[in-house]
Amino acid sequence: MLPDGSLADRVALVTGGGSGLGRAIAVELSRLGAKVAVLGRRPEPLEETVAQLAGEGFAAPADVRDHEAVARAFDAAEAALGPLTTVVNSAAGNFLVRAEDLSPNGWRAVVGIVLDGTFHCSRELGRRVIARGGANAQIVNIVASYAWTGGPGTVHSAAAKAGVVNLTRTLAVEWARHGVRVNAIAPGPVDTAETRERLWPTEEMRERVLERIPLRRFGTPEEIANACAFLVSDFAGYVTGDVLTVDGGGWLEQGMFG
Ligand code: COA
Repeated sequence: MLPDGSLADRVALVTGGGSGLGRAIAVELSRLGAKVAVLGRRPEPLEETVAQLAGEGFAAPADVRDHEAVARAFDAAEAALGPLTTVVNSAAGNFLVRAEDLSPNGWRAVVGIVLDGTFHCSRELGRRVIARGGANAQIVNIVASYAWTGGPGTVHSAAAKAGVVNLTRTLAVEWARHGVRVNAIAPGPVDTAETRERLWPTEEMRERVLERIPLRRFGTPEEIANACAFLVSDFAGYVTGDVLTVDGGGWLEQGMFG
């Protein structure tokens, strides 16, 4: 039977679901029929996201760096919505800093959120699906093209996201036999309150970013959410271990001869 793109049988947990891409993804998965739990550190933004969902939702406050808190949040989400089928790892930490000025604690904070957090949440889903004897399940990890090009100014995030790309490919192979597809999305620059504050705080920096995008505009959170819905849905039933780049051609722009 041909898939129709419906996510009505999905029960998803989206980390970083209180803001930015995570919120847009939660809203989109819900619009397509999924039940959606959102996980993040602060309860208030999570509740705001839940209020925007089209169907059943649940707020699960936890820090992705704390694996015990993550396990408790997964338990609570499953008690509220049923067995989870889907995890979207969108929680991130980032700030512009020269490598020589980055403190070990700053490094740890970002690598802890991005790499450890993605592992903790993926592991929770994997263990649960395996314990149920397998399922049509999906993990989608939000990375960035600087995972493979390098990311001057964001060494912590770039190194962590490179780890997540590897984790994506490794788990895709390990867990295929249990029905779990594992993919990643590499968004280009998306203009949100967070990225505006953290990554292109001045008009000049904003223009510099735009100049390097062949499509000459920022991506929207909804465009990333659409890609995520595709990877979660049965339209992508044979796609695993891949990174879908959604960046307006940005990472290919080398610009040597125009
Ligand atoms: N420049 C340099 N160092 C910074 C920094 C900045 N802009 N922001 C934080 N740090 C350093 C801190 O100084 C601290 O190191 P220190 O103890 O040696 O001084 C370390 O990072 C941890 O900071 P803290 O605020 O205690 O960590 P946290 O765990 O509360 O927060 C962050 C984690 C730092 C990643 C924070 O920015 C965050 O919560 N981000 C989440 C949202 C996000 O970044 N989204 C990405 C959208 S683009």
